[in-house]
Amino acid sequence: MCGIVGYIGEGNAKKYLLQGLEKLEYRGYDSAGISVLQDDKIVTVKKKGPLKNLKNAIKNVDLTSDVGIGHTRWATHGIPSDKNSHPHLSEDKKISVVHNGIIENYAVLKEDLIKKGYKFVSETDTEVIAHLISHLYSGSLLDAVISATKQLKGSYSIGVISQDEPDKIIAVRKDSPLIVGLKDDGNFIASDIPAILSETKDIYILNDNEFALLKKDKVTLYDERKNEIERKIYKAEFDDVTIQKDGYDHFMIKEIFEQPKAIKDTLLSCIMGEKVEMDSIKYDNLKDINKIFIVGCGSAYHAGLVGKIVIEKWAKIPVNVDIASEFIYRNPLIDKNTLLILISQSGETADTISALKLGKKTGCKTLAITNAMGSTISREADFVFYTRAGIEISVASTKAYITQLIALYAFALLLAQKKMEKDEFENIKAEILLLDKKVSKILLDDKNIKTIAKKIANEKDIFYIGRGVSYASAMEGALKLKEISYIHSEAYAGGELKHGPIALIENGTVVIAINTDKNLKEKMDNNIKEVASRGAYVIGIVPESFKNSNYNDTIKIPDTKPELYPVLSSVPLQLLSYYVATEKGYDVDKPRNLAKSVTVE
Ligand code: F6R
Repeated sequence: MCGIVGYIGEGNAKKYLLQGLEKLEYRGYDSAGISVLQDDKIVTVKKKGPLKNLKNAIKNVDLTSDVGIGHTRWATHGIPSDKNSHPHLSEDKKISVVHNGIIENYAVLKEDLIKKGYKFVSETDTEVIAHLISHLYSGSLLDAVISATKQLKGSYSIGVISQDEPDKIIAVRKDSPLIVGLKDDGNFIASDIPAILSETKDIYILNDNEFALLKKDKVTLYDERKNEIERKIYKAEFDDVTIQKDGYDHFMIKEIFEQPKAIKDTLLSCIMGEKVEMDSIKYDNLKDINKIFIVGCGSAYHAGLVGKIVIEKWAKIPVNVDIASEFIYRNPLIDKNTLLILISQSGETADTISALKLGKKTGCKTLAITNAMGSTISREADFVFYTRAGIEISVASTKAYITQLIALYAFALLLAQKKMEKDEFENIKAEILLLDKKVSKILLDDKNIKTIAKKIANEKDIFYIGRGVSYASAMEGALKLKEISYIHSEAYAGGELKHGPIALIENGTVVIAINTDKNLKEKMDNNIKEVASRGAYVIGIVPESFKNSNYNDTIKIPDTKPELYPVLSSVPLQLLSYYVATEKGYDVDKPRNLAKSVTVE
């Protein structure tokens, strides 16, 4: 989604802005722009398309400046175009604004401003903010921004510069992430830590309705009544080097190969000792829980589907799993004995944040499983467990998803540890502790998977089938394929085929069968025969111990406990999607229309 960066200091603003925008590219965008203050005038350049269009446009322009703001836009209001790109300017061109989020009441505000004589040049909601700040300006940019936000409804993080106050940047956040980076010779704003990590690791994380006034040698934070706020400096835990491709062609394949480490690091944080311990989560705080809801979007939702099966099986507590955008509009039956688990890699997904807010309003307990320290979801939930995947850059989630599974296994065990037989508990724990090594083994089969991917890369439709936890894996596999290779792919529960979907099978249709659970093997074998006898080309993902398979192609994975297979089967599914997409020549890390952090509802 959109990205913000801003710099004020003694350096070259243009350099820092472009560098920051480059680092934010992974979030997904369709245009980019910057405004800098040069000779006390605002100079703005913005271009539709990739960042290189903006870079070309300013290549020969002298933009010497030590203050500026920049933006990558992911269109919501108005098509991607130069005009709709940010920054947006006030009519007198003295104020420039970048904005992430959505101004829900922009139409009303726009009508009012038009009546007052303001002329709009774009179709965006953001332009309203620039005119409004300009209209309210009477000598203090900070005051004007504070007053303007009182009229804004919706979500926003905003960066503002003004020709009349060239020594400052004003920033504010509400329901959309924004951080401030601190350095000896200058200060930064950004929507995400990677944008500024090469310059500083010292960060202020802004809370909702907080304002930052940045000067080159000082940053002051205010609440909405303009009281100064103290904030502890947060030290970013990762280095800029961790966000390099390290010789891999794409971040996605690098992140797939980082999974053994991500699993190990996550396990080390929760399950290595005698007991299962998960950051701030304590069993005693949860012993009255009699119902659980797991809520997330996309891959996080798919992890939740596995979570439901293991929590119900091991801890014997009923679990509902919901897509966040559905959960918030369906009046779920939540009370104080309910636990709401929010799963989100980024911790900033707008729909999942809304689900968390709904849960908090009803008084249930809330638990965040997230990969992003200091993210909105991590700060607002009652309990938090951090997956230790390390920063994930590629839009398609791989290592973050796999560590969400690990977190859910650990949590199911934590809930079960006083209910389960000791032997069973130890046995499951021991199997979980082997998963990182088993994933490493699957990664050695990379070449076989690449060969299979080449065979199916030109398909129009691909189907995934599975039962039990492997149905959830089938859904994740189909999502991974469609998002990066643009091949239509659907997942079906094996037993559902005959209720409709089997009508789609014809000669040569590719079906990927995830057949992992020995208790369901016979049933799955029948489902596979049903599609094979109608001409399907079947690719099987099966444990090493399964014999007599009748597949056109087979991908073997190590044996484990039935509930743990999603960790192992997700790896070949990721590799298959990756190699199909690269075979088609697509930009795997930045698939069309998608964004890494979905900060609008
Ligand atoms: C799929 C993918 C998305 C995310 C979804 C939720 O590969 O990455 O489906 O899983 O947008 O994002 P988070 O986990 O950040 O809430």
